[in-house]
Amino acid sequence: MDFDVLRYERDDDGILTVTIDRPKALNALNQAVMNELDRAFRTARMDEQVRGVILTGAGEKAFVAGADIQQFPDLDPVSGHRFAARGQAVFNRIEQMPKPVIAAVNGFALGGGCELAMACHLRIASENASFGQPEVNLGILPGYGGTQRLPRLVGYGIATEMILTGDRVDATRAERIGLVNRVVKADELLSGARQMIETIASKAPLAVAMSLQALRASDGAFQDGQRYEAALFGQACGTKDFQEGVDAFLNRRTPDFSGE
Ligand code: CAA
Repeated sequence: MDFDVLRYERDDDGILTVTIDRPKALNALNQAVMNELDRAFRTARMDEQVRGVILTGAGEKAFVAGADIQQFPDLDPVSGHRFAARGQAVFNRIEQMPKPVIAAVNGFALGGGCELAMACHLRIASENASFGQPEVNLGILPGYGGTQRLPRLVGYGIATEMILTGDRVDATRAERIGLVNRVVKADELLSGARQMIETIASKAPLAVAMSLQALRASDGAFQDGQRYEAALFGQACGTKDFQEGVDAFLNRRTPDFSGE
């Protein structure tokens, strides 16, 4: 397969491993990654040989450290809204896969990275993994479905705490609150993910696909919530605090927010 910022590797057992491969930028999601993720999952959906997908990040430090903040200075309310809606669509496609998709979280899963892990059907994490929605530090809110998926996974109270404080949650707490299904040693991460897929792939494929479909159908408010999130994300991109938060991150200083 022809990818620049992903590795797309299907083995003889039909297990596809998709690795986001920008370790120097902690696998941050730029436009190229989003386009290639979209293409990878369209291809995997159509490929009858693929029985399940493991999604992970290259290197030992990060799964994905979020959307690529380098592209943020160009965002305004219109392009910010489009940016969020497009990211949501890519992640929804992952969630709508009829075969199991497991996030193997090998380090930081922050912002869009946490949202990407949550769009997968199951999550297995290494002991050094950590999770967070630090968007408030940048003057924005989660825009790739985080305000909708996080409360559904961990409950409203803890989701509110994570989104309003931006604090990170380590792997042990992530397992306790239901954000990940299992925590394992780093060198057992991919074999653990593989084992989960093998178990699911040994069941009736149509029953698995229908279960995934039914699980998603239980929640009609989700799409409305996502639309609202994208609209607010666009609005946040028009604030002075957004400019301040992004400039502070890019120049490695503490932001000074004014509420404008
Ligand atoms: N976008 C672009 N580059 C990023 C990045 C991101 N999200 N996260 C890290 N990087 C880059 C850093 O700029 C740095 O690049 P240089 O070496 O060229 O300077 C490199 O990755 C390594 O990062 P650090 O030096 O910062 O590594 P650290 O160990 O000191 O800190 C970290 C790691 C805590 C993850 C820190 O990098 C960090 O806070 N990153 C930003 C996390 C974040 O805010 N994510 C949310 C983005 S907004 C979003 O995702 C919105 C949405 O809902 C879609």
